[in-house]
Amino acid sequence: MNSTTVREGITDLEVPNPSSYTFQGQYAPFKAPVFYNPKMEFSRDLAVLALKAFAPTRESPLMVCDPLAGLGARGIRYAKEVPNVSRVMMGDLNSEALPVIRRNASLNGVEPLVEVFEKDANLLLTAHAEPGRRFDFIDLDPFGPPSPFIDSAVRALKNRGILAITATDTAPLCGVHAKACIRKYGAIPLHTDFCHEAGLRIMIATAVREALKYDLAAEALLSYSVDHYFRSYLKLTLGAKRADASASMLGYIASCAACGWRASYPFTAPLPTSCARCGGAVLRGGPMWLGPLSSGQFIEQLMSQGTESLNTAVRIRKMLATLLSENDLPPSYYVIDNICSRLKRDVPALEDVLDAVRSKGFASSPTHFHPKAIKTTAPISVIEDTVSSI
Ligand SMILES: C[S@@+](CC[C@H](N)C(=O)[O-])C[C@H]1O[C@@H](n2cnc3c(N)ncnc32)[C@H](O)[C@@H]1O
Ligand SMILES: [Zn+2]
Repeated sequence: MNSTTVREGITDLEVPNPSSYTFQGQYAPFKAPVFYNPKMEFSRDLAVLALKAFAPTRESPLMVCDPLAGLGARGIRYAKEVPNVSRVMMGDLNSEALPVIRRNASLNGVEPLVEVFEKDANLLLTAHAEPGRRFDFIDLDPFGPPSPFIDSAVRALKNRGILAITATDTAPLCGVHAKACIRKYGAIPLHTDFCHEAGLRIMIATAVREALKYDLAAEALLSYSVDHYFRSYLKLTLGAKRADASASMLGYIASCAACGWRASYPFTAPLPTSCARCGGAVLRGGPMWLGPLSSGQFIEQLMSQGTESLNTAVRIRKMLATLLSENDLPPSYYVIDNICSRLKRDVPALEDVLDAVRSKGFASSPTHFHPKAIKTTAPISVIEDTVSSI
């Protein structure tokens, strides 16, 4: 591999030289012999913070698995940047990745903490499914959907461990390719103006259902949608009663494309066939996770971590603040531009809409999902009245 070195956090990484692997004049990660995407540094920075926040809650040093490691950007960073990590097992099917991972381990002086396997991710995880061999933290960062790897990851996770999952197949999850979503996630996507949240919730529900089989309850500690991917950190805890409580947070969202009405329904409830507001046809999306997308306490723990060494610190701080502000609000968000275009109104400033909705007694917040949308407890009729009267 024709390589160069970059620094992420306090970790130096040998990566493909961007000028050698281009398409139409730009670095193209898929052209390189070993995969590395510089645009995912934000995701890796947040992952380091998440593991740092999680580590003090564990009794013993952490066992970590990065079974789709590429050149080891995540696993090496965990070993180097998170105190209290005792071992990081990394795997990749690409034989060219392994020497690069090893060189990256030695570049950062973490060889004693790292083990590298040329192995299918499911085989590596299954080899650690027995009690005593399991991991505290597993990071599934595949090409496309994480669903093929979730069952083996759940079985390889210790009680109260964290399963972190990425999905880059946002088109299926957002309903652009509905058949692929049904195949990969066993769920009907919603191709609506809040499709990014619906897609993230479908991804989470897929992991939750895999966990429930083993009486594992799920708590979403941190979930978000940015750029071209969805990401969630799920804490899994053993216990049938708790698992029942998690199952009760699965359900559906019914959404009317004509008037913007939407409502959530538990897994077991009958679903409407027509819109409660205008009588139009409704789209049904799910099963999806209807519980909180993040834990306010976990976000605060992330915010209390030092971010001086992180190149994406400013973006991280901004997103965490928004996630905290929107976290307690109900599923779905309203894109103000779309409502105004339906009503043939000028678009007011987002802050004015938020203030006016709040003054009517409803909670509301900007959302990280969309720069021109709000999350709120107000129904669509109140939002329409509000934008019409500003
Ligand atoms: C998205 S890349 C990982 C990027 C890496 N986590 C990072 O942050 O730089 C996915 C990796 O999974 C590897 N891969 C694909 N299918 C696999 C499988 N079944 N088992 C193990 N590795 C696999 C690919 O070779 C690729 O390196
Ligand atoms: Zn309607």
